[in-house]
Amino acid sequence: MIIKKVDLLMTAGNKSQYPETDYPEVAFAGRSNVGKSSLINVLINRKRFARTSAKPGKTQTINFYSINDSQMLVDLPGYGYAKVSKKEREKWGKMIEEYLNDRDQLKDVILLVDIRHVPSQNDVLMYNWIRECGFEGYVVATKADKISKGKRQKHIADIRKALGIDDVRKIIPFSASDKLNRDAVWTKIKELSEK
Ligand code: GTP
Ligand code: MG
Repeated sequence: MIIKKVDLLMTAGNKSQYPETDYPEVAFAGRSNVGKSSLINVLINRKRFARTSAKPGKTQTINFYSINDSQMLVDLPGYGYAKVSKKEREKWGKMIEEYLNDRDQLKDVILLVDIRHVPSQNDVLMYNWIRECGFEGYVVATKADKISKGKRQKHIADIRKALGIDDVRKIIPFSASDKLNRDAVWTKIKELSEK
């Protein structure tokens, strides 16, 4: 994918703020700090366009990134961040629900999990939610640079089992640090966008 133009079109807290575009959208979900914003930066070949942080809870709105005026990548706020009040959790749920249910342009939602860890209960809930919405259920396993190559298959197998995934090819190992599988993720985004 050749990136000619990238725009952060909107940081939306609710439906009324979604951009009025008809580009196909693919969104990224996952717990806080898993690497959603970092993945977007690698995909768009920018170091810090989507704001990232070592502290979880950086992205708190639905961020719409327009690519070449033809494709949208959507950064969703993360979940599972411990220091969050009940009220904030409810706000998160409402924001995500509204987006998953009401956005016609949304072609698919890809779940990000950390390759090092067995998916949490929240990851399982999020994955089931994505599937219940009728999406394919692709998973990007982030931070692959943090474990040795030899261990990756075992970790992928554990993720597959925890999420109840039928086809192991639905899990793509990824690293923002060494750009592992950047092209494979783009290929998947394009394929999902043409549905
Ligand atoms: P929220 O916005 O809080 O939901 O988090 P996020 O999912 O957007 O995570 P973000 O991209 O901000 O990354 C969190 C931290 O993990 C940052 O310090 C990143 O540098 C680091 N990180 C992300 N991806 C990778 C990766 O593939 N490898 C390594 N080593 N670090 C990564
Ligand atoms: Mg983020």
